[in-house]
Amino acid sequence: MAWQSPKGTRDFFPADLSALQHVEKSWRSASINAGFDEIEGPMFEHLDLYTVKSGDGIVSELFSFRRDNGDTDYALRPEFTPTLARMAAAKGRSLAVPTKWFGIPNHFRAERPQRGRLREFKQWNVDMLGIDSPSADAEVIATAIRALADLGLTSEDIVVRISHRDVVAKMLLDGGLKEAQLQVALGLLDKREKMPADVFTEKVSAAGIDPSVFAPFDNDTEASHEDLSTLLHELKQWNIDKWCKFDFSIVRGLAYYTGIVFEIHESGGNERAIAGGGRYDRLIEMFGGPSIPAVGFGMGDVVLSLVLRDKGLLGDGNDLLPTPEVFVISASDEGDSAISETVALLRNANLHTRRSYKATKNVGKLLTEAANSNARFAIILGEELSRGEYVVKNLDTKDQVTLQRANLIEHLKS
Ligand code: HAM
Repeated sequence: MAWQSPKGTRDFFPADLSALQHVEKSWRSASINAGFDEIEGPMFEHLDLYTVKSGDGIVSELFSFRRDNGDTDYALRPEFTPTLARMAAAKGRSLAVPTKWFGIPNHFRAERPQRGRLREFKQWNVDMLGIDSPSADAEVIATAIRALADLGLTSEDIVVRISHRDVVAKMLLDGGLKEAQLQVALGLLDKREKMPADVFTEKVSAAGIDPSVFAPFDNDTEASHEDLSTLLHELKQWNIDKWCKFDFSIVRGLAYYTGIVFEIHESGGNERAIAGGGRYDRLIEMFGGPSIPAVGFGMGDVVLSLVLRDKGLLGDGNDLLPTPEVFVISASDEGDSAISETVALLRNANLHTRRSYKATKNVGKLLTEAANSNARFAIILGEELSRGEYVVKNLDTKDQVTLQRANLIEHLKS
């Protein structure tokens, strides 16, 4: 029987992991550059943490479990925001204002695996707590854009679609929607893009809603809200307004958002959202903490990697694997006795050192192996070793020198 990884999970061979780490490096440096500190939490939480306020969509996709003979329900984390809000609530009044946290946790959602959607993925979270102004929203959006730009994307490739829950609600109610139908209508609007128009109309009618209340969302509708005017001003200050547009068809599926919400998409509209976020001013309080306003986003690695590959900005990761500075080969019996000690000397001097494990003494073959490792230098342990000499070959220039042991490290580091 051949064992396979569970559906919707990924095995990361070295090149795959290098590609992921390339993305994570941009995430981490954009966060640190903007003054966010890294946090991490448990990979599973009490089930209730998600049933309280994440919304039905995410709850229906939980991997939940109970220990044998146990009576506590847990769930693998499907997102980070409840953990972060729980951590902030635990700090209570001692939480600094503002608190700027980021994390790169992995998440688990029992979704049907498809392009851009897996059952385990990485998600960069950037959250800013304690500032009740769209200036904080603009700062987290600017941080997202910093990472995307660092990865080679431009405002031609990417659009940040910004909306506001209150504006959307008002548009629906002004269009004749009954107050009692608001939550259902918001849920439908959130899923509208993911289904054909006739299926949407069918679902809307089945919910007893007049489809015409959604008409204003078909076009770029103008709407005004003080938060949005302030946000636009701030986006201009950050010089990122050309990456952003207002789009009131964005409502976001998660139940805890309270005001401005946004999604980051590939401009062609070909993929699912690269990131999603918004304001959640009441969540920390809901978890027993003080009333602390908050805004943040989550950006997954799956859709982003598809977009980067599609634009030729991310390869298969082979070119990103680390290459050695030195490759040691033994071409003599003296070399065989000295190879471990030589490798230790180099590694202790912080040189990335690899060696051949082959038995052959054929220098041509061994040098080919050294060249294939993409090392800068090869050290050939030959008969000269009996005189305390090491042959060092520069694999780029093909120059070869014979050095005393005392001069070896200095030459390799030069
Ligand atoms: P979300 O919209 O559920 O928001 O997820 C954000 C991003 O995570 C998505 O845009 C997508 O890139 C990625 N993602 C989500 N589900 C999957 C999946 N099954 N496979 C691959 N990628 C996926 C949240 O999770 C919020 N907690 C974000 C947030 C942080 N809001 C405030 N702070």
